[in-house]
Amino acid sequence: MMTTDTLIPAPTSPLRMREPARFLNEYPEYESTRALDEVRRAEYAHLDRDRHVYLDYTGASLAAGVQYRAHAERLSERGFGNPHSQNPASVASTELVEQARAAVLEHFNASPREYTAVFTANATAACRLVGESYPFAYDNRYVLTFDNHNSVNGIREFARSKRAEISYVPGKGDDMRVDEEALEGALAKRRPGLRGSAGLFAYPAQSNFSGVRHSLGWVEKAQQQGFDVLLDAAAYVPTQPLDLSQVRPEFVTVSWYKLFGYPTGVGCLVARREALERLKRPWFSGGTIQAVSVQGDWHAMAAGETAFEDGTVNFLSIPDVEFGLRWLRGLDVRVIGERVRCLTGWLLYRLSNLTHSNGAPLARIYGPRDTVARGGNVAFNFIDPSGRVVDERLVEREAAAENISLRTGCFCNPGAGELAFNIGRAALRGRIGRRVRSIDDYLRMLKLPTGGAVRASLGVASNVLDVERFIDFAERTYRDQPADRADLPPRDHC
Ligand SMILES: Cc1ncc(COP(=O)(O)O)c(C=O)c1O
Repeated sequence: MMTTDTLIPAPTSPLRMREPARFLNEYPEYESTRALDEVRRAEYAHLDRDRHVYLDYTGASLAAGVQYRAHAERLSERGFGNPHSQNPASVASTELVEQARAAVLEHFNASPREYTAVFTANATAACRLVGESYPFAYDNRYVLTFDNHNSVNGIREFARSKRAEISYVPGKGDDMRVDEEALEGALAKRRPGLRGSAGLFAYPAQSNFSGVRHSLGWVEKAQQQGFDVLLDAAAYVPTQPLDLSQVRPEFVTVSWYKLFGYPTGVGCLVARREALERLKRPWFSGGTIQAVSVQGDWHAMAAGETAFEDGTVNFLSIPDVEFGLRWLRGLDVRVIGERVRCLTGWLLYRLSNLTHSNGAPLARIYGPRDTVARGGNVAFNFIDPSGRVVDERLVEREAAAENISLRTGCFCNPGAGELAFNIGRAALRGRIGRRVRSIDDYLRMLKLPTGGAVRASLGVASNVLDVERFIDFAERTYRDQPADRADLPPRDHC
């Protein structure tokens, strides 16, 4: 049986949990994830050694020491050359890259007959591949949720340039979920003269702002309405399995460092082969063609994923993806998900119960307040006793001074930010975009009290002491304190 003593690695911290019994009563399932405490001690030892509270797993997960060791061992064993040639160094690379590709498909339970995996630099590059090659046209549409990362929002510029209609589906309510009625309406609409697919529908399986997990059932719903679906799985798959034999989007985008920290610079577009064939690349390059003629002015693209991997793939790091996936399987993504759920529930409970001495709440949370259909990233602002928002830059600075890693801003998800801060269409339309010189300028024009939220996110090496140390910091630093107590530098991102 787990006790509070075994919950907290006592020698590393003088902090005692204030409500340990309550945590264990509310989240008895935490016990089933105890193996991760040992993993933290063995593989993420720097966290406790440096008393570092890492709460930015949605930014990037942390890599285990064993992943770096495996990389070094592999590279020191033999020489690896540029793939796609028949020399031994090249063949060695090609074999490992293809093994990693197969491991990616296996991880998502995707049939290699139905799906393939294109290696990209990151999830953003995967989105761009789809955006620039999708057959957008005057008779089809790009439908997407307000709640999307900018790398998915940006696809609208490709759609616009081909005269496709762009249609955003709003979110609603305090929990910032998508308005399902509006979604149904958007998916049912047709453009006159439609010949082929109704267009592309894109949404995140998990919001990187509010943590909301959107329904995977929308994939089939949109397909039944004639849409291709791009599922942005970047924030979802670090703590949840995704089974592509059950949910079959045309395109799935991921960045591997978000699952296991290392390697960076490698992502994937997992795509249905049939959908990939319908994409039309706007250019060719080294690596993507079967043949090309200079004098004849023609080229023939290579088949399948090869047509989408520009130049030389990251052949020294792609094999680390296979190792990372094996590492994750050993830990069991369901166990990580369960721990993250328990800790997220506890963080939400602790944050929402913090008050000033006048009884006013100390934090305003954006998104769901419970753990139902939500992941482990929580967005909020601290509020002072008179109800003013504490500037997120101050929070980032003060947390950093206590060795707490948080993220602040709108997390490249402006649609969710507009929902959270109640900024309506009227305030944003028109010439405002052209008048904006800086982010601070923009915030002043909108009369916003803050430039963004604070995000705490949990992951593979998180424990309950991380949550407690963060809450302790919040209480000591913001309870009964006025919001305006520091000069802050200009913002360089929103
Ligand atoms: C939901 C979501 N989609 C896409 C991305 C883009 O990932 P990358 O910056 O690795 O391309 C992120 C990164 O934070 C994300 O959280």
